[in-house]
Amino acid sequence: MDRQDQKALVGEAAAIQYVKNGMTVGLGTGSTAFYVIKKMGEMIKAGMELKGVATSKATEKLASEYGIQLIDINEVEELDIAIDGADEIDANFFAIKGGGGALLREKIIASAAKTFIVVADGSKKVQSLGQFPLPVEVVPFGYKQTERAIEKLGCKTEIRMKHEEIYLTDNGNYIVDCTFPSIENPSQLHQSLNNIVGVVENGLFINMVDVLISVNKQNEISVAIAKK
Ligand code: 5RP
Repeated sequence: MDRQDQKALVGEAAAIQYVKNGMTVGLGTGSTAFYVIKKMGEMIKAGMELKGVATSKATEKLASEYGIQLIDINEVEELDIAIDGADEIDANFFAIKGGGGALLREKIIASAAKTFIVVADGSKKVQSLGQFPLPVEVVPFGYKQTERAIEKLGCKTEIRMKHEEIYLTDNGNYIVDCTFPSIENPSQLHQSLNNIVGVVENGLFINMVDVLISVNKQNEISVAIAKK
């Protein structure tokens, strides 16, 4: 089974197992979250009543295409669940997110959810985080200063580009992609990054994931619940 098939399998399984009638669901961003949204669209067609809160403008568009009623995050006190992809996830359920540039809204929505579910193909499960460059969202003003301060934490940095221009997040900010030789202490790094002036948020999701839906070596669905 290739990665695309695994994404479809875990995305659909998450929707089938966790999305229930009447729920307000945080809708993730990316190619795995796509399958959750698609399945939710089918569930709505079959008669379920669901509402969604999108983690990006791309997801807003997709959800509308699949007939999911969108509401503003400010209209709800909390979300029943949020389901999203990840770039890496380790055995402690710590994750790196933001490969698609949506980390800030993803984190706000994951924090607002009673249960935060990550859907991940097998390639996303890692022994230790850091092979995937860690995305950090920074404000455009003084971004080179901010980038230098981030580098002092021991990484190589790159400002994310798109079509030869600096990539802009949905919040009008820049992304600094940070390659560390390894991330020994994700919690400490999370703190250190967010203490830098100019950093809005970083892509480390620490103690946030409640459920990981992935596949095992036999290509079967595996559901793991975080101990908290
Ligand atoms: C977007 C994200 C995505 O969840 C992450 O990049 C995984 O994407 P995909 O499911 O396409 O592999 O964090 O900001």
